[in-house]
Amino acid sequence: MPHADSALVPSGVDKAAFWTHVHEQLSYLLDGQRNWVTNLANAASLIYNSLAAFEPHFGSGERAVNWCGFYMESNLFPSPQIFRAQTGANKEHEVPDRLLLGPFCGKPACQFIDTAPGKARGVCADAYIAGKTVLVADVDAYPGHIACDGETKSEIVCPLVLRKDGGEAALGVLDLDCLVLGGFTSEDQQGLERIAQLVLDSCDW
Ligand code: SME
Repeated sequence: MPHADSALVPSGVDKAAFWTHVHEQLSYLLDGQRNWVTNLANAASLIYNSLAAFEPHFGSGERAVNWCGFYMESNLFPSPQIFRAQTGANKEHEVPDRLLLGPFCGKPACQFIDTAPGKARGVCADAYIAGKTVLVADVDAYPGHIACDGETKSEIVCPLVLRKDGGEAALGVLDLDCLVLGGFTSEDQQGLERIAQLVLDSCDW
């Protein structure tokens, strides 16, 4: 099957069946690959395009998911020394706590999200720091919301929390924006949390 066809959605499925389908397609797409950049790129594209094909719940019209992607912990990126040079920091611990824009689909978005105490703001930072999904029915009513696109009305952010050897570390977040108020439900939350776990399990960190 051509890779693009993994974003086709069977007609008439409900949300539970939709998310099971996307999870299954993603497991095939990530098979045999452990690089996180590659895998997050395909995950963002699959989720975004599957939701665009998922009428009448989302689709490509007025209920569309207009952004789907990842913000990831800055130390995961290939050249943190370049970032340190740009910011004047010269020691590992001086790199500011922030998430950097990772693989995504949609319009351009903010480069980074501050997560440092006193600077942290917005839905992504809150989900990352709490290690819990944040579901926002109305972004305008959410204190500190960062508006990358003025058309966004609702949002959901799932943290990527790696649990290993009895410890856990938040590596980043999966963020989706929607054009309608209350676009996401608890069923979407469950589906996306399972997908976040699949992404975590499928990469070497
Ligand atoms: N709204 C997010 C910022 C990222 S964009 O939605 C892509 C926030 O408040 O953290």
